[in-house]
Amino acid sequence: MRISFILFICSVTYLSVKASHLVLGNVSDRVVLANQTKVEYAGFPFMKRVKFFFYNTPDNRPIRGIQALDPLHTKSSVNVTAGGVGFPFVNLRMKSERGTTMVFDIGIYVDPDLRY
Ligand SMILES: *[C@@H]1O[C@H](CO)[C@@H](O)[C@H](O)[C@H]1NC(C)=O
Ligand SMILES: *[C@@H]1O[C@H](CO)[C@@H](O)[C@H](O)[C@H]1NC(C)=O
Ligand SMILES: *[C@@H]1O[C@H](CO)[C@@H](O)[C@H](O)[C@H]1NC(C)=O
Repeated sequence: MRISFILFICSVTYLSVKASHLVLGNVSDRVVLANQTKVEYAGFPFMKRVKFFFYNTPDNRPIRGIQALDPLHTKSSVNVTAGGVGFPFVNLRMKSERGTTMVFDIGIYVDPDLRY
């Protein structure tokens, strides 16, 4: 029951992956959500905005999965510019569409018990 629900969520997430979603590594299987942050930046007329999100895991645990979803389905883009899966930190670069509000739902996943 629980597994099928999780699989359902995963496939829904997968199907909704379009241009601007970023999903790296494991975000559901044997990992726990270490940090979830929703970022929102209002659009400036005629301007593209670039924002960074930095996250450092507690205890230097390596990151197992990274997810950045764009619930507004804009053409905002998001990239990993430092760290990432396998590192204890990640830096994400987010760029909005011209004049458009940018929202990203960011989730960082780590192993539940592994410590370094
Ligand atoms: C995700 O987890 C599964 C099971 O633990 C593992 O086999 C797979 O290699 C992992 N994938 C990544 C990208 O870490
Ligand atoms: C998640 O990470 C962000 C950025 O590092 C931080 O501002 C926020 O407080 C963290 N939230 C939690 C619940 O740890
Ligand atoms: C950033 O991500 C976008 C798509 O999200 C991709 O088209 C672009 O090539 C990436 N840029 C870099 C420098 O990786």
